[in-house]
Amino acid sequence: MKLDSITVKCRIPGYPAGHRIRRSIWCAFMAVMVSAGLCGCSRGFAADKTIVRIGHNQSGSHPTHIALTAFEEFIEERLGSRYEVEVYPSELLGSQTDMVQLTQTGAIDFCVASNAILETFNRNYEIFNLPYLFVNDEAYHAVMDDADITDGLFKDTVRAGFEAVTWLDAGTRNFYTVSVPVEHPADLKGLKIRVQQSPTNVEMMRLLGGSATPMGFGDVYTALQSKIIDGAENNELALTNNGHGDVCKYYSYDMHQMVPDILIGNYEFLSSLSDTEREIFEEGFKLVNEIERREWTRAVEEAKDRARTVQGVEFLYPKKQPFIDACLPLHEKILSENPEIRPVYDAIQEYNTRYEEKDGE
Ligand code: GCU
Repeated sequence: MKLDSITVKCRIPGYPAGHRIRRSIWCAFMAVMVSAGLCGCSRGFAADKTIVRIGHNQSGSHPTHIALTAFEEFIEERLGSRYEVEVYPSELLGSQTDMVQLTQTGAIDFCVASNAILETFNRNYEIFNLPYLFVNDEAYHAVMDDADITDGLFKDTVRAGFEAVTWLDAGTRNFYTVSVPVEHPADLKGLKIRVQQSPTNVEMMRLLGGSATPMGFGDVYTALQSKIIDGAENNELALTNNGHGDVCKYYSYDMHQMVPDILIGNYEFLSSLSDTEREIFEEGFKLVNEIERREWTRAVEEAKDRARTVQGVEFLYPKKQPFIDACLPLHEKILSENPEIRPVYDAIQEYNTRYEEKDGE
């Protein structure tokens, strides 16, 4: 983890808009935690129990946190004499990139990372970052639930020190802006739009005509508020849970990506589990997936309602086709640069034939 002091003000996701701390203070706090052994290179033990640490970047009311808390309860109920689970929300353990690195080294045991971030650790994750990969959310869910498609990818990072154990729904990503309604790719011209830190996302923005500004999730609110960027792209929960709807008043359902979040675990930790323990952990991973997806559907409805009625966000429903036409060359570009993902891509196209394309809802 980078603990060097960065003096920009940052907003901790999930905290009220007024809640600010200086990142340098935050880093100092992290340094204390490191020296207390939280982020060291050895795994945590409490008395004779192993502490299992899980980090993520969402707030305490987000579906991800609710699901991981259920996981904590489940593991402690079934294996409480051996394991104590601690869940750290709100980037308490750093950005997603930091947390993936901590998981790789075993300083923490699990974290939730966007598939977009994982692309920089293993190129094959590019596949799920492709814009307009799925015709609709049913095709997306069916593909992500098909172990024949995901297993190869999920185990592909073992040499890098981690394994993906399940996926979490992060909905559909759409553009939202402070003051320019986006109804057509041409509207993005000249706008600085925050994207996740992945080459695929930067290229997608280039094709759509906007100016990509990659940055970590925790920095987006301040960047919007201080007009460093003109907008961003994400699911509806970013408007409410992260307060982006306090600043951005237009949310356009162009539906350019369905990028899953992935729960990854340190490979050494997972390998240290006995067969029986592993089975119980696997049950726990399934529970995370089930609970998060159930909570997701509810949370999106609530977020839309709150964004519209309390934050005054206007929802727009542009025609998808011009956005699709602009982005599609990215598919062939990525496939020709990385032919290894072609079989998965073809399998996804086969799923797509079974579902119907729809415009924003
Ligand atoms: C979503 C996603 C996060 C991701 C964030 C982002 O909220 O669930 O995993 O970090 O988007 O745009 O960075």
